[in-house]
Amino acid sequence: MSPSNESAGIDKSYELITRSCMLKTLDLFLALESIWTDLGEKKWAEDNFLLDLPLKWNLSFMCKNRSDDSINDSIIGYIIASQKPGTQNGDMSNVNKIIVDNAYRGKGVGKHLIALYEQASLEQGLKKSQLKALVDNKDANTFYKRLGYDIIDTVNGTDDLIRYLYEKRLRLWI
Ligand SMILES: CC(C)(COP(=O)(O)OP(=O)(O)OC[C@H]1O[C@@H](n2cnc3c(N)ncnc32)[C@H](O)[C@@H]1OP(=O)(O)O)[C@@H](O)C(=O)NCCC(=O)NCCS
Repeated sequence: MSPSNESAGIDKSYELITRSCMLKTLDLFLALESIWTDLGEKKWAEDNFLLDLPLKWNLSFMCKNRSDDSINDSIIGYIIASQKPGTQNGDMSNVNKIIVDNAYRGKGVGKHLIALYEQASLEQGLKKSQLKALVDNKDANTFYKRLGYDIIDTVNGTDDLIRYLYEKRLRLWI
């Protein structure tokens, strides 16, 4: 797939998330957090969104639904990612968070966000991608498998929740 800004019915635009845009639109990011609590995950606070991680601001993207006046633009999805810490994993990127607003699911937004992230990872010299999903999160597990991710481990988090650890060797999307 080649990333583009086209879609039927919605005026979507995909943008890199910078620190300054995160600061300006933090409320819109926070507004999507109830989706995480519904899934049983802890929601993020301001500090989590603003935390500086290696390469984070080069690997994170958002999808906006553009309005006529741009004041009422809304964020319908985002992916926050970073370089996986540790020398052994120096060529690895990691998805910290991906989310698509309930009303816009199944329209290719999540796939497009992953494509942008994977392309940016490759451009930064990161050849593999890892991420985790709760074993009970059926939507996420179907989504990741569909996009070529393989389960390589099952991990018990500090929050006592069990997640699959996924990995994918990255290739350019065409
Ligand atoms: C997981 C999530 C990001 C997927 O986003 P999305 O925009 O609905 O996914 P897309 O429309 O881009 O789907 C991409 C592919 O996955 C498949 N897919 C996605 N969700 C699916 C589901 N629930 N059931 C079956 N297939 C699914 C699509 O059919 C599509 O396949 P295709 O490429 O053959 O057309 C979204 O469901 C979400 O935000 N969930 C809540 C947050 C979450 O769980 N995040 C991940 C936590 S680790």
